[in-house]
Amino acid sequence: MRMLLNADDYRSRARSFLPRGLFEYIDRGTEDGVALRRLRASLDEITLTPSVLTGHDRRRFDTTLLGQQLTAPLVVAPTALAGLVAHDGETKLARAASRVGIPVCISTQSVTTVETIRRGAPDATLWFQLYVWRDRALTAKLLERARACGCETLVVTADTPVAPNREYNKRNGFGIPFVPGLRSTIDIALHPRWLVSVLARYLLGEGMPTYGHYPDEFRTAITRPSIAEAVRLDHRLNWDDVRWLREIWPGKLIIKGVLAVKDAETAAGLGCEAIVVSAHGGRNLDCLPAPAECIQAIADAVKGRLTVLADSGIRRGTDVLKYLALGAEAVLLGRLPLWGLAAGGEEGAEAVLRMIVGEMDTAMAFLGAERVAELRSPSFRGDAPHRTRNPEAVERDSGFAHARPGMTV
Ligand SMILES: Cc1cc2nc3c(=O)[nH]c(=O)nc-3n(C[C@H](O)[C@H](O)[C@H](O)COP(=O)(O)O)c2cc1C
Repeated sequence: MRMLLNADDYRSRARSFLPRGLFEYIDRGTEDGVALRRLRASLDEITLTPSVLTGHDRRRFDTTLLGQQLTAPLVVAPTALAGLVAHDGETKLARAASRVGIPVCISTQSVTTVETIRRGAPDATLWFQLYVWRDRALTAKLLERARACGCETLVVTADTPVAPNREYNKRNGFGIPFVPGLRSTIDIALHPRWLVSVLARYLLGEGMPTYGHYPDEFRTAITRPSIAEAVRLDHRLNWDDVRWLREIWPGKLIIKGVLAVKDAETAAGLGCEAIVVSAHGGRNLDCLPAPAECIQAIADAVKGRLTVLADSGIRRGTDVLKYLALGAEAVLLGRLPLWGLAAGGEEGAEAVLRMIVGEMDTAMAFLGAERVAELRSPSFRGDAPHRTRNPEAVERDSGFAHARPGMTV
């Protein structure tokens, strides 16, 4: 069997283990995949120039991020339905992250609830990601639950006002609540290891996997439209909602999905502690600029007022270093830990995270740097073509069709 030495190896292993519908849901972008290709191209274009003969004998990645001590400037990104990748996958991700010494962000759309994850990973640093539901009272209750489970950091996803246009999910019959069709049933039957080790375990235990945090009635959403309406994504979400969240959330508040300087400024003005410069892994709007193209201008504008994080497209340790060199204080990893989870469960997820730290260490040695903060010095950034496009030019069309209940984002 092929050795698992890099992200591509883990991805290939994940591809053979997971039903195609689930693999594509994780792996692909949106519409024509342009944003996803752009992410990768933007990272590949960046160069970092070494300082030679610096004589460091070790590299240090320990970081204080928003008051928390991390062994490396990495966070496991919120990913919906990670619990479908392995049985109890979200808890496994939390334990893997905890062993590596980094936080994990639990998605509103996780299979397993934050309470169960907390019980299974008592030492993990849990962040909570929020999709604001139309029903604000239900949203507030969800936040109370996250808080009661020790989540001190809230990540509000701002870049997903509606369900994205991922045609492959429709073709594959992939959605939540899961309604089996001929195509998806054949797909599952062709992946017996996943069927036995993941789906069958749910069916014999807690039942058909679905969004754990959603009200029980959501499971019958098709017949209960009023409940489905309550937990739809709110396409009217705006900065007043962030003001409201700032009032009710006593912990750290992060806005995820910022690409424009003016939005970063607004987040700072409203008392948010951090933003994630993110294109949602190329999964939402296909004409977005890449975060690597936007982050420097944002980091320069909000320096000292906001902590800047970044994500999207990271497949190597050098990609992490590039985002850090451009001004991120830490990065989020989305698909990588999921591929690790698919390939080898909890150990696989941990191995992927350690692999990335190992790649970062090798690259830092070549670069002649001891601490990642040194990478922000212009001497390391080489002649990187950080074309700073005008992110304000990216229009968000609020006239899209509304999210259908149960659309998976
Ligand atoms: C399968 C999958 C599910 C995701 N679900 C969520 C989610 O529930 N909430 C959210 O804010 N972002 C979600 N994201 C986006 C990630 O948090 C992150 O922004 C993105 O994956 C980073 O790009 P990368 O996968 O190339 O590392 C998801 C990403 C993937 C791959």
